[in-house]
Amino acid sequence: MILVTGGAGFIGANFVLDWLTAASEAVLNVDKLTYAGNLGTLKSVQSDPKHIFARADICDRAAIDVLLSQHKPRAILHFAAESHVDRSIHGPAEFVQTNVVGTFTLLEAALAYWKTLPGADQMAFRFLHVSTDEVFGSLSANDAPFSETTPYAPNSPYSATKAASDHLVRAYGHTYGLPVVTTNCSNNYGPYQFPEKLIPLVIGNALSGKPLPVYGDGQNIRDWLYVGDHCAAIREVLARGRPGETYNVGGWNEKTNLDVVHAVCDLLDRLKAKASGSYRDQITFVADRPGHDRRYAIDARKLERELGWKPAETFETGIDKTVRWYLDNPAWVDEVASGEYRKWVEANYAQRV
Ligand code: NAD
Ligand code: DAU
Repeated sequence: MILVTGGAGFIGANFVLDWLTAASEAVLNVDKLTYAGNLGTLKSVQSDPKHIFARADICDRAAIDVLLSQHKPRAILHFAAESHVDRSIHGPAEFVQTNVVGTFTLLEAALAYWKTLPGADQMAFRFLHVSTDEVFGSLSANDAPFSETTPYAPNSPYSATKAASDHLVRAYGHTYGLPVVTTNCSNNYGPYQFPEKLIPLVIGNALSGKPLPVYGDGQNIRDWLYVGDHCAAIREVLARGRPGETYNVGGWNEKTNLDVVHAVCDLLDRLKAKASGSYRDQITFVADRPGHDRRYAIDARKLERELGWKPAETFETGIDKTVRWYLDNPAWVDEVASGEYRKWVEANYAQRV
């Protein structure tokens, strides 16, 4: 079996659901169930014997040791993290704890477990670390996209803790020989994304008649990748990625935030028109994110060249699927938008108006 951390979050859960559809191998899903983890996302696999869920914190070494020795996974896929940049600005401590201390603890447990494996199993074992393009910092308009050799220059507490975790993973490969591989991916979007992130936030606010908050001038650029394509890339890297290597994953879809918000509004205008006017009328420019990175873009040619991976979705097809999914699944959004979420919205947006 494989062990997935953070498999009740956005990308982890999409990965688990895809894996259980495509593969015959079982998944041990280890998640602390923070505000971002939702078992509701995994309802369809609740009684699947190939899905084993364990509520545990990756910082809890004893709990991870027990899970590893009981289930003997052939690989660990590490998704668990605190993932929202704005939250890292309001409260970085939790990011240091989970992203740095948690990854360190998981690496220590993985190394101890790996050493107990017979030779052939040691060779086949993988620790796949799921990371972000934000570790590379910010690009100017005419800079080349981030490649695997771009120097690290993280700018937010979130990206600094992810960069630290990437360095620890690299060091455990280099020093101890643990077969590690890291992916650095651009912005994901798709079903089951927590509504604190731009695209689901805009869909939710649009439908409830609330302002659509665009930070600064709305000209910051992100490289958008449909989550199913990210999951496919991770499956390829797990199967054929070379230990010790890093792979950039991206969608070749650079868009300004304003373009993204316009695309969502235009789709909603078509699929669920308002009585009068356009959803674009709800767009409100608000105070910028401190230290806001201007542009991210990923050069994903290594992954294509070595493993043959290319995104299947364009931004147009992916955003269409995504908006339709949110329109069809209001109950999922209601369930995750709990009291804690409402408090976060007040904390983040009250001061921006
Ligand atoms: P998410 O916030 O939606 O989910 C994170 C999951 O991790 C949640 O289920 C949460 O309960 C769990 N978790 C948090 N702390 C934990 C702990 N201490 N122990 C065990 N579980 C814990 O995040 P996401 O957007 O799905 O991102 C997953 C991974 O992918 C992260 O490592 C993130 O840095 C990376 N990433 C995300 C994106 C993106 O656009 N969302 C892009 C590139 C890389
Ligand atoms: O690049 C990969 C990263 O993408 C991941 O590592 C992170 O985990 C993920 O959260 C995401 O980070 P961003 O900060 O780019 O995503 P977010 O959805 O928060 O914001 C996208 C852009 O939209 C960013 O430029 C900020 C802007 N924004 C965001 C929100 C929530 C707004 O203008 N208004 C908003 O209300």
